[in-house]
Amino acid sequence: MANAPDYKALTVLEPIARELARIPTLGSDELEALYIELLGRKQGSLTAVLKTLPSLSPEEKAQLGSGANALKRDLETAFDERRQALKSETQARAREGVDLTMPGRGRWIGAEHPVTRVTEEIVQIFHRLGFARATGPEVETEWYNFGALNFPPDHPAMDMHDTLFLAIPERRIVPDRRANRTSGVVETHERRASSDRRRPSEGRYLLRTHTSPVQIRTLMAHKPPVRVVIPGMCFRKDPFDASHAPVFAQIEGLVVDEGISFVDLKATLSHFAQAFFGSDTSVRFRPSFFPFTEPSAEMDVSCRICGGSGCSACKGTGWMEIMGAGMVHPTVLENCGVDPERYTGFAFGMGPARSAMIRYGVNDIRLFYEGDMRFLGQLAKY
Ligand code: PHE
Repeated sequence: MANAPDYKALTVLEPIARELARIPTLGSDELEALYIELLGRKQGSLTAVLKTLPSLSPEEKAQLGSGANALKRDLETAFDERRQALKSETQARAREGVDLTMPGRGRWIGAEHPVTRVTEEIVQIFHRLGFARATGPEVETEWYNFGALNFPPDHPAMDMHDTLFLAIPERRIVPDRRANRTSGVVETHERRASSDRRRPSEGRYLLRTHTSPVQIRTLMAHKPPVRVVIPGMCFRKDPFDASHAPVFAQIEGLVVDEGISFVDLKATLSHFAQAFFGSDTSVRFRPSFFPFTEPSAEMDVSCRICGGSGCSACKGTGWMEIMGAGMVHPTVLENCGVDPERYTGFAFGMGPARSAMIRYGVNDIRLFYEGDMRFLGQLAKY
């Protein structure tokens, strides 16, 4: 704008030149309106001045012409700069993601994992029947995980479990009979004590292969009557495939009282199956074997997919296995200082992920444990 004084001195150009200062403040609609007002081919005020030039005398033409042309150049430059600035502002806003015309983005809210939710639901069904919740440690000793549960030493069942042993020295421990009974939650603790009955050794440390060791901890800490459900994670050296996970959830149940019989087991577990899977669910019990129960059984529920007529999900049998159960072995009661002449009981153990698979028609357990939000989000309840 080195030539600016040329046109400022001219009264016809002065009001047009004054608009120059406003240009950098205008929005794009006002900017284009002003452009037409000043430089429009037909009605632009500066265009009109330029159109008069050919009819002027040579001196006037020289004077006004150079001023008008200088002003035109300056205006064009100012308009171009402003247009450019507005364009890059819009682009910057788009980069920041601020586009007020876009539909709102949903906010991700955390939700309970489907296995946690199913676990809580199962615990609640038993809670309504008078069961308390108990928990125990994931790191156990051979004694709690196997020995006290009547697994003979070096029994092949221990290989069957494919246990993960921990590389830390064995420890002599005794159970703490004092337990926290507040809030219906039974917690079992360990402490070193000289007054209690000492066992020679608890054996090696391991990651528990089932929640059954918490049966032992509960019975050692509480005199019967005992009614507990025990949710918790378990660990086995299993391959990670469609029906096995090396880290998986279990829910254990234990009832010990006077006069408990297999009828109580069947009635309680049938009630559970109908409460969880629906009142049209049938159950059946098949003989089985566990060292810590006698007699032992597996409980099946009628296939949720075909209703019992047989399909690929139930391998044509019409039934799906959901848990192991049985009457607590007298030796287990004895190991916990409970008189088997006076008390009897039943126990059961199930995988909530398996129950969730049956209920939601999921055919691969890995989906529950791989943390894929596209899958978990579908089963999430907020
Ligand atoms: N602990 C057994 C398992 O993990 C299940 C079970 C629990 C069976 C209680 C009977 C009674 O396979």
